[in-house]
Amino acid sequence: MKTTRFFHGTVSILENVKLARATYRLRLASAELAGLIAPGQFLMLRFPDRWDPLLGRAFAMMDTVRDETGQPHAVDIGYFVVGKMTRLLERLRPGDQLSVWGPLGKPFPRYDGVGDLVLIGGGIGHTPFLALAQRALGLVGYAGQPARRECDRVVLVYGTRTADLLAGVTDFERLGVAVHISTEDGSAGRAGRVTDVLAELPRPQRGDYWVACGPMPMLRAVAQLAQSWQVPCHVALESPMACGTGICYSCVVPTRTLEGWDYSRVCVDGPVLDVCQIVWDKI
Ligand code: FES
Repeated sequence: MKTTRFFHGTVSILENVKLARATYRLRLASAELAGLIAPGQFLMLRFPDRWDPLLGRAFAMMDTVRDETGQPHAVDIGYFVVGKMTRLLERLRPGDQLSVWGPLGKPFPRYDGVGDLVLIGGGIGHTPFLALAQRALGLVGYAGQPARRECDRVVLVYGTRTADLLAGVTDFERLGVAVHISTEDGSAGRAGRVTDVLAELPRPQRGDYWVACGPMPMLRAVAQLAQSWQVPCHVALESPMACGTGICYSCVVPTRTLEGWDYSRVCVDGPVLDVCQIVWDKI
């Protein structure tokens, strides 16, 4: 039987639900894509009937949606309304159509044998963690893999500028994830940034692992803390992407090589990279 590893087609919108201020969850009807995609991977979206915006835009998979028999039939993405593309997404209603291609990028690796898996999200950066938490806790299998527990515990450290930007916190709590919130203005959780929360949590133990996703200054700060405390840490990068398939080099980040450093393409070499691979002082 022929195995399809990639989906490219037009899909219908099932839901476009507001989660927080300017923050939405968009549900795309595609059993084929939902059966292929794994946590950490992304897809490209484009409006089939418009030339502007001309290029597709990358969105991380938030979760797959399963029917009563457990079969995945739809894919959720999360977005924050910030530019032309997302202002158009905000107007979508059930039954409207989008062009989609994916899954793209490499999924999060397995965190087998990890103690605390600490997921660190800034802004909309916690989007890929809902699926990762379910996979790591052995609650859901993705991309045809059976569910299998990987770590002892999942912790979410989630920071936004202010309380009304916090999105989907109860989705994590419902899974049994220990959630720690920070807001820059102190309107919810600890006043400050995610690194302030990390610094106040019990010092990481051998076997713990950090995974971060969010704005680059936050990732840099998390990477510095992880390296000074010698905690293994992955980052899921949100670089701007024009093609998503390794052709255009619009998404590159400097990474270490045996000879020094070179550029890696986030869309095909990532989006998940080890903090030790990235040459932070060249970004
Ligand atoms: Fe084109 Fe990565 S988005 S090479």
